[in-house]
Amino acid sequence: MLDQALLESLVAEARLAPSVHNIQPTRWRRAGDRILVLADPTRRLPVADPTGHDVRLSHGAAIEGMALALSRRGLRIVQVELHPGAIPVDGGLIPVAALDIAPGGVPDQLSDLVTQRASWRARFMPGNAGTDQALADLARTESDLTVITEPGQIETIAGLADRAGFHFLCDAAHRKELLAWMRLSSGHAAHARDGLNAEAMALGRLEALAAGLVLGPLFTTLHLIGLAEPLTSDGAKTRSGAIALFHRPAGEDPVLTGRAFYRAWLGMTRSGLSACPVSVLVDWPESRSALTKLFPPPAGRRLVNVFRIGAAEQHGVCPHYRLPVAELLEST
Ligand SMILES: Cc1cc2nc3c(=O)[nH]c(=O)nc-3n(C[C@H](O)[C@H](O)[C@H](O)COP(=O)(O)O)c2cc1C
Repeated sequence: MLDQALLESLVAEARLAPSVHNIQPTRWRRAGDRILVLADPTRRLPVADPTGHDVRLSHGAAIEGMALALSRRGLRIVQVELHPGAIPVDGGLIPVAALDIAPGGVPDQLSDLVTQRASWRARFMPGNAGTDQALADLARTESDLTVITEPGQIETIAGLADRAGFHFLCDAAHRKELLAWMRLSSGHAAHARDGLNAEAMALGRLEALAAGLVLGPLFTTLHLIGLAEPLTSDGAKTRSGAIALFHRPAGEDPVLTGRAFYRAWLGMTRSGLSACPVSVLVDWPESRSALTKLFPPPAGRRLVNVFRIGAAEQHGVCPHYRLPVAELLEST
């Protein structure tokens, strides 16, 4: 049922799933009719994601990407066996999960949206009746999302996001790690492969050059004269759209959370909306606690992430910067 050529075509679609900083930590291996999901331990974010939560969530998104790709071929995942361990197997990879594959899949409606979803990091277009309707539909159909459209509340969240973001940027190790995953010039060897390139971050050439200086050698001086904070603010972008709070059952394995995360994001794409996570809001305890006080998650659930969301100028036009399939596949 599952041969190497099929796995290649499945991975080509599964790799379009979002991953934190686009580090693409997931690797795949065929074992009979099982697909082994493995983690490349060299692709982690020890500073921004010290517990590995977001990397594990990214594996979950990749698994959901695999489920969607399988569904298009009449196949389905009948069982997901999760491996919580961190012990490397051969090749230094760490098992994340084993997927049992069987016939009987029906095309998942979200699978058609995979190529149309991408992070939108520019400002959103001014809302109109269509946007309002799409946001209302999303709030009604996505049980994992709380949609916030009230301008005063968005303003509060934009302020919190800026404080949270700046809190992390003041840490030199954080800036260093972020810069290492940024590809600010088109000449960067990994520009179209992984990480965050200038196009994905909606930065023009000069802006990309400036970003490298502001986050790099000029940060300390700019901070001293009070310019670092305004120069790194995303407030205008956050205020230009709405907010979606993503919550999931407390105690859920982040791999399962990641599957739901990808589905919720594709749900936004289906509604004609574009989005981008703002992880700093949940990563910084101060903003996280302020947010959960203002917008308590439903009983038994935890706030996992926060999306900026709205109407994009180029909805559905999505370049994806990804590693070649061959590098994601481990031979059996
Ligand atoms: C767990 C997780 C957290 C993320 N957090 C952020 C974030 O805080 N800011 C951001 O701009 N993108 C964030 N992203 C989006 C990724 O950077 C994005 O998915 C990746 O660069 C691939 O690009 P694509 O979404 O356009 O396919 C996050 C993605 C995941 C899976």
